[in-house]
Amino acid sequence: MAKKTTKIGRYRIVDELGRGAMGIVYKAEDPNLDRLVALKTIILPEDAEEHGEYRKRFFLEAKAAGKLNHPNIVTTFDCGEHEGMAYLAMELLEGIDLRTRMTKQGVTALEAVEIARQVAEGLGYAHERGVVHRDIKPGNIMLNGGGKTKVMDFGLARMRMADHKTSTGMVLGTPRYMSPEQISGQPVDQRSDIFSLGIVLYEMLTGTRLFSGENIEQVQHSITQTDHLPPTRVVPGLPAMLDFVVARALKKDPAVRYQDAHELAGDLGTCLAELRGQEAATEPSGDSSRTVKMDAGGERRTEAPPARAIAIDTRLPVSRLIDSAAALKRIKNASSDELTRVPRPVGLLRRVVRDAAVRRLFVVALVAGFAGLYIALV
Ligand SMILES: Nc1ncnc2c1ncn2[C@@H]1O[C@H](COP(=O)(O)OP(=O)(O)OP(=O)(O)O)[C@@H](O)[C@H]1O
Ligand SMILES: [Mg+2]
Repeated sequence: MAKKTTKIGRYRIVDELGRGAMGIVYKAEDPNLDRLVALKTIILPEDAEEHGEYRKRFFLEAKAAGKLNHPNIVTTFDCGEHEGMAYLAMELLEGIDLRTRMTKQGVTALEAVEIARQVAEGLGYAHERGVVHRDIKPGNIMLNGGGKTKVMDFGLARMRMADHKTSTGMVLGTPRYMSPEQISGQPVDQRSDIFSLGIVLYEMLTGTRLFSGENIEQVQHSITQTDHLPPTRVVPGLPAMLDFVVARALKKDPAVRYQDAHELAGDLGTCLAELRGQEAATEPSGDSSRTVKMDAGGERRTEAPPARAIAIDTRLPVSRLIDSAAALKRIKNASSDELTRVPRPVGLLRRVVRDAAVRRLFVVALVAGFAGLYIALV
């Protein structure tokens, strides 16, 4: 029988909180400060060369996460190494993760928008400091029951990449919440987190899985090629502005997506005000207070967007699988500078060229300008 772990570093193990792909999360006691923490262990690879690389990346990411201090982000206290594994000591959270909540209890539209707004606030703060999460998904969002939402596991997706490297060099993991650029093995920045949050918001609002498929090629095709059905078409009665917010967060081209998570948080705040107004004007059993639940395994087929059907029909060649060899190489070569790179904002001209809605607005403004000029001159 395996020996029971009682101590990791200076931390005394109290209980097991859960298990993920990277290791075990324990409830532990920090004797120095006499407080309880969540201790996340990450198994390091045995291969000497890989071990060094992985270890270096772990401490880089832990340091970046340790600098984040925000009410919507889990606080990282400490990191270290113990008997061939790395560990992170974090704020111990009470409550339930969003994945469990969505399948067991469900969320109302009001809760969905408020959760997404708080996640966007936390992301906005991290992005300003050059930290990209890379693995925004319901399992990494914690709800404390008192209306507070916290994002967990900043930067740890880089560890996962190495975890899931198969003999063919292919990257596995949870691709359902990846952005088109991420799943295609291209460089990602803060806009990738915005796309992932867009998927989480969509799923909370509609109770349907957005980009699914029987295998990775289908999920990739779904994420990069298929369009979602507007949330109000799936759940009539939701504010129309949510269609706009979701559509902008889910733009395939990052250049025309929300560029800033704070902007997304602001728009979600407006939706929230509208939902509260709607709720005040109607019976409490109106649409905004209706709980939308997600099936644990399958999806609500009758209301699911067409993405799934298209994905199932797709037979993409194996060569279209995630180009993970390139992605891994890039991660390996990434300097700490690259890890904290904040992209340039997108210019108006580029947005006019790429986004039909902005283009229409631009043409209307131009025509109005010329009409004004004509009236003034004639
Ligand atoms: N700071 C924390 N406080 C309390 N519970 C936590 C904390 N961090 C993680 N957990 C719990 O530990 C469990 C395992 O978390 P972990 O991040 O290892 O895996 P995961 O996110 O569920 O899955 P995956 O490996 O796919 O990311 C989760 O169910 C989560 O609820
Ligand atoms: Mg996690």
